[in-house]
Amino acid sequence: MQLSIALDLPTAEENLALVSKLSQYDDLWMKVGFRSYIRDGRPFIGAIKAINPHFRIFLDLKLYDIPNTMADAAEEIAAIGVDMFNIHASAGEIAMRTVMARLNKQQQRPLVLAVTALTSFDEKGFSAIYGKGIDEKAVQFAKMSYENGLDGVVCSTFESRAIKEVTSGDFLTLCPGIRPFGEDAGDQQRIATLERAKIEMVDFPVIGRPIYQDPDPAGKVAQILPLL
Ligand code: C5P
Repeated sequence: MQLSIALDLPTAEENLALVSKLSQYDDLWMKVGFRSYIRDGRPFIGAIKAINPHFRIFLDLKLYDIPNTMADAAEEIAAIGVDMFNIHASAGEIAMRTVMARLNKQQQRPLVLAVTALTSFDEKGFSAIYGKGIDEKAVQFAKMSYENGLDGVVCSTFESRAIKEVTSGDFLTLCPGIRPFGEDAGDQQRIATLERAKIEMVDFPVIGRPIYQDPDPAGKVAQILPLL
């Protein structure tokens, strides 16, 4: 497993202070989300790489638009030097194929994941939009993403193994809602420990609060790394 740290602190300064505290660990992924990227943009990505050029960047912008606009955006994301980004699976197969065809023209491209079901949906709200239950649709979206050349999906730890069974063991799963040692769930509904994530063959556990709210984030990462 590869640890992905959610940089969800309120300011760029606080996020970069956290990144600096973790600078000794080369193998980390840094998840940059909507708020950070809209506010702090490309210089923020550069600032992370300046702290440790080995850190890899997951740009969590969840693209959703018409296929050509998504492919244009994907190309710009690749040009920033980001290592992984995501799109909404519900943007559809043509969008997936258009994005991947554009990126595959490049010698090196970022990994592309699809968001299956946002965890904020309850069953009723989800089926009002997608016409099916969350579990069924998440697996269907994962299959669609695999068949159209994406590298993996964002999903719950508890869906990871089922998704690999209908796609491939190499099809990546990135899973938030991880509480490494069973820490406070916060607003997460279904949490998993790292031990469970490993059993479920998660490739990228995403961890935010259990690391950045710890008084010693570097010490916490030191405890986590041997379990990956
Ligand atoms: O602090 P915590 O470990 O709960 O952070 C999880 C991260 O994963 C946050 O950045 C959150 O926005 C993100 N995320 C999530 N559930 C999803 C998709 C993303 O918690 N379904």
